[in-house]
Amino acid sequence: MSVASLKGRDLLSMADLSAAEIHELLELAADLKAGKVNLRCQNKVLGLLFSKASTRTRVSFSVAMFHLGGQVLDLNASVTQVGRGEPTVDTARVLDRYLDVLAIRTFEQAELETFANYAKIPVINALTDLEHPCQVLADLQTVQEEFGQLAGLTLTYLGDGNNMANSLLLGCALTGMNVHIACPENFQPDAAIVEKAKSIAGGKSEVLITRDPEAAAKAAQVLYTDVWASMGQESEAASRVPLFQPYQVNDSLLSLADPKAIVLHCLPAHRGEEITDAVIEGSHSRVWDEAENRMHAQKALLASVLGAERL
Ligand code: CP
Ligand code: NVA
Repeated sequence: MSVASLKGRDLLSMADLSAAEIHELLELAADLKAGKVNLRCQNKVLGLLFSKASTRTRVSFSVAMFHLGGQVLDLNASVTQVGRGEPTVDTARVLDRYLDVLAIRTFEQAELETFANYAKIPVINALTDLEHPCQVLADLQTVQEEFGQLAGLTLTYLGDGNNMANSLLLGCALTGMNVHIACPENFQPDAAIVEKAKSIAGGKSEVLITRDPEAAAKAAQVLYTDVWASMGQESEAASRVPLFQPYQVNDSLLSLADPKAIVLHCLPAHRGEEITDAVIEGSHSRVWDEAENRMHAQKALLASVLGAERL
């Protein structure tokens, strides 16, 4: 069975999931990866409405839906009326009449929330400027595969306090992981999300925001980084490089972490900036497993929100 409590639900933020639901999703994703379960979503249609570029999210969602026996429609803004400015509240109600589930990649979290408010079908956040929960499900799956547990481990994120940092804060707090975010001044994660993560952690695990990359990386089991300038921030990329240089994940920073530490990156990576070639290609890197797990974790999620039955 899929995760029954998720049937018909949206996933707009990592905080939409309970700790128990995350654990159930990860267990299902692991079973799907191992070929232990076969779930079917025959005749169900997933729409992908993406206003930003995507390789992993687009392909992993599509392949997951094909494996479940469903279909996928690419609703790229340039081939729909979305690109010509049709109001979101209208598009949402129309797509609701055709599709069974809708994954959206856009800029504003508020736009995603409008879709969710006007469409009754499950709406999934496939990345906004605020959050990237589907990536974090795959990240947690990758950590669990490596260490056999999540609670009590420390994940250190280095770099920009962006959508990845925000969703990792929530995902780690929900699963009892300590989370350290090391970022330059004025590039901290969203203040409301930091507060929410602290409240979820409830003092049982650590939520630390710091400007000190070395202190943050010390003894961590997971080092995580992402681009220094996200999609939509390209004009700031060059000016950010000197500010972010101390946060680069390189051999020297890795030597401070737990000797068994793994290195994750949501990808795409800018080698030589947030991560060195040696580290991303080195023995601690798990980035290819992490990318593969996007497909398994999202298959578990799709099957659950669609209420798929085991064959
Ligand atoms: N990590 C991730 O979301 O990659 P894409 O932008 O290629 O989908
Ligand atoms: N922070 C990055 C993540 C890409 C998967 C961005 O938003 O561009």
